Amino acid sequence: MGVWRYGGPEALRVVELPDPEPGPGEVLIRVHAAAVNPTDTMLRSGAHAARLQAAAPPYVAGMDAAGVVERLGAGVDDRLLVGQSVVALVVPAGPARGRGAYAERVVVPAASVVAAPDGVDFPAASTLLMNAMTARVALDELALRPGQTLAVTGAAGAFGGYAVQLAKADGLRVVADAAPADEELVQGLGPDEVVARGDGVAGRIRELVPDGVDGLADGAVLESLVLPAIADGGGLAVVRGWAGPTERGITLRPVQVSQRAGDTAALERLSRQAGDGTLTLRVARVLPAAEAAEAHRLLAAGGSRGRLVLDFAAGLADAPAEGPDAA
Ligand SMILES: NC(=O)c1ccc[n+]([C@@H]2O[C@H](COP(=O)([O-])OP(=O)(O)OC[C@H]3O[C@@H](n4cnc5c(N)ncnc54)[C@H](OP(=O)(O)O)[C@@H]3O)[C@@H](O)[C@H]2O)c1
Repeated sequence: MGVWRYGGPEALRVVELPDPEPGPGEVLIRVHAAAVNPTDTMLRSGAHAARLQAAAPPYVAGMDAAGVVERLGAGVDDRLLVGQSVVALVVPAGPARGRGAYAERVVVPAASVVAAPDGVDFPAASTLLMNAMTARVALDELALRPGQTLAVTGAAGAFGGYAVQLAKADGLRVVADAAPADEELVQGLGPDEVVARGDGVAGRIRELVPDGVDGLADGAVLESLVLPAIADGGGLAVVRGWAGPTERGITLRPVQVSQRAGDTAALERLSRQAGDGTLTLRVARVLPAAEAAEAHRLLAAGGSRGRLVLDFAAGLADAPAEGPDAA
């Protein structure tokens, strides 16, 4: 599913592309499921156009693939095997050259491909790597020590949920935000405390942690609104490039998952953590791949709990492809 021209959800069309060939160090994956992430809507709308300039349309969105290894490029070692079930972190505006995971087949650097978590189906597996790795990067950038306190906004979301669970596994004290309707869900992720999300959230975090939290992972993109929750000299992990200004010596920790897309050891650990239950995989709904536009509408409407997933297992053979001139 790709875009010839950037636009709204309707810009996502079935497109016909030659089967991709894995180059040296790359893997060809037969995709069974691709998770739908907020960043995919940015690729579709053109917000990533500058990063895609080197590639030709149609641009195929999707950073999260789960499927089966179909072919190995030259030089890929025996860590990966043909026929193996895998998950991959795909960077369309990077090594994937504009050809992301919303496809029957995708080529990915081997370093970004790891064994799928044990005991998990493809749709659930596809919801893991992009957001769990982003949460891992946020925690690594904040570099808190066990016993220190992390606050997480947007804790009901994909990034936020993984940030809560990884932080607990790292031995941190965690304060998470939640809307009343999400309180049970967020409590289930295991934070030490939950505060009501929305206006005044920083004050509520401060009431629980009077000196302020050592770090904050801002999945809700509240930016300056959360600064009062953070201790003097603490850290704020930002996921959408906010550049400040901050106050009281608070340091911004920009998070860019694509920079760690080739960190195989970290990806493997996340897959193990999903398999052993440390991380909870959450699927809101599985849609046929041809309904990618509808998935983008549902994501934009907000309120999805768990990820929307496109099912590529059956392929797109029955859906007519559209060329660049289709209305
Ligand atoms: N830099 C990177 O490499 C990178 C990688 C991955 C993700 N991201 C970014 O990280 C952010 C989170 O991604 P995601 O996939 O976790 O999104 P998500 O699943 O939609 O989660 C965001 C959560 O924040 C909630 N929220 C919205 N407004 C809020 C508010 N004012 N206060 C508290 N919570 C609020 C949402 O609730 P509702 O559904 O009710 O609105 C949702 O539960 C996105 O902006 C995404 O683009 C960046």
